[in-house]
Amino acid sequence: MRLTHKIISSFILVIAVLSIVNIFSVIYAINHSQEEKLKTEEVLFAQDLADRFVRDIVEDKAETLTDTLFKDKKLREEMIEYILVFDKKGYLLSNTYLEAIPKQLLKLNNQFSRKDNFRLQKIINRRVFVYDIAVPVREGIEQVGAIHIGFKGVYILKTIKEALSPALVGVLFIIVVAVLFGLFISKTIVNPISKLRDAVAKIGAGSLETRVVIKSADEIGALAGSFNKMASRLEETTALMVQAGKFEAIGKLASGVAHEVKNPLGIILQGVNYLEGVIPPENKDASEVFQLMKDNIVRADNIVRMLLDFSRVDELYMQPENVSILMDNSLLLVKQIARLGNIEIVKEYQAGIPKIMADKGKLEQVFINLFTNAFHAMPGGGRLTLRSYLCRFADSAYKGDKTKNDYFSPDEEVVAVEIEDTGQGISEENLKKVFEPFFTTKGPGKGTGLGLSVTSNIIKLHGGIVEITSQLAKGTKISLWFKTAKSG
Ligand SMILES: Nc1ncnc2c1ncn2[C@@H]1O[C@H](COP(=O)(O)OP(=O)(O)OP(=O)(O)O)[C@@H](O)[C@H]1O
Ligand SMILES: [Mg+2]
Repeated sequence: MRLTHKIISSFILVIAVLSIVNIFSVIYAINHSQEEKLKTEEVLFAQDLADRFVRDIVEDKAETLTDTLFKDKKLREEMIEYILVFDKKGYLLSNTYLEAIPKQLLKLNNQFSRKDNFRLQKIINRRVFVYDIAVPVREGIEQVGAIHIGFKGVYILKTIKEALSPALVGVLFIIVVAVLFGLFISKTIVNPISKLRDAVAKIGAGSLETRVVIKSADEIGALAGSFNKMASRLEETTALMVQAGKFEAIGKLASGVAHEVKNPLGIILQGVNYLEGVIPPENKDASEVFQLMKDNIVRADNIVRMLLDFSRVDELYMQPENVSILMDNSLLLVKQIARLGNIEIVKEYQAGIPKIMADKGKLEQVFINLFTNAFHAMPGGGRLTLRSYLCRFADSAYKGDKTKNDYFSPDEEVVAVEIEDTGQGISEENLKKVFEPFFTTKGPGKGTGLGLSVTSNIIKLHGGIVEITSQLAKGTKISLWFKTAKSG
């Protein structure tokens, strides 16, 4: 059963029960008041008859009595069913029936004790309900007869019916109001709940982008808000999991292929070296070809090494290192490129900063990757600034949530490293993808797209964070944060 139906039917049920109770109490009250009225007004009427008839009864004037009885009955025809007059011995002296009198009326009790002035009883006469009021006819204190007046029950029922019809209209009205109220509740509560239920079902079926639109400031609105937040988190986490899965698959694939390719590459290089030795040195063309072959084999070998690094970054040999020195070491290897490329190098190293725990070789590899990227971004020359300094993580330029990250507490002192170039920058759209393996904007054969993804993996394994900020045509800044060697 739908919630709307449940609400409406509960309303109707409650109202119906209340109405029935109410109707019965009204019936009881009317019935009671009618009986009271009979006991007062109609008993007086009967006693009045008794007083008027006492002489005729004593003198046995049945005919005169009958005459008067008919007249009296006629006056209140709609209420009075019968009037019976009995004599002292209980014989029926006179009555208002034209036809034969019902037998049970002859058996009515006509004896009254001294203190009884009337008797009221309900009887069924000729299959209808009658209130019988009996009064004694007394001369002085002696009972000389009795009078019975039958009041029609229908008359009382009619009064009840008259009183109840507006009540029934009222009940109907309340039921209509209840249905409308139920529909209103349904619109304000049930509909949003159904929306949420449908949304949950959709998310369950895999449509993680599902959101609910409920614009209300109450708890339901808040629930919808929380639901949407939950859905967003779910979507993000699922995307991350998918990404992580992809990385793992790519890593396995890459290391498999790299292993297969590494040894043949070595053999080819040996072969080339051997052939170079057996060809006469004056054959310049051959030497050039051999050099070209060796360069490309080295290039291929570098790529293979990158792939292996990408999949094997978990083997680190950590020791305390000065990060500025590591940057300088890496710079030595690529300095020549900078000079040729007309790139100025500015160093802003803070003196005396704590060491960090690092795998020297891996971190140098990271810096070489980052410097190379920067050089590639400044084909017409530019400036590369290298910074290292100590700061509280809470005061750092880190863009993510500083209170909730997996690596640092806000109060922690961290070693910050910045590598900033004045190159072409990265578009907003590409910025989201640069850490993905194999994402590159460099032409075929020029970049593998693994540099930054390897960098990110290595930094994570160092318990650090890497962040990239960039502005098109202005430059790019890579920021790194490391734990200090003493704290971790
Ligand atoms: N300093 C930078 N300035 C501008 N763009 C950059 C910078 N660093 C990285 N990028 C962009 O990010 C992409 C990915 O970089 P990444 O180092 O992962 O791969 P790659 O340099 O293309 O190839 P690889 O490093 O494997 O030879 C680059 O192709 C480039 O578009
Ligand atoms: Mg690169």
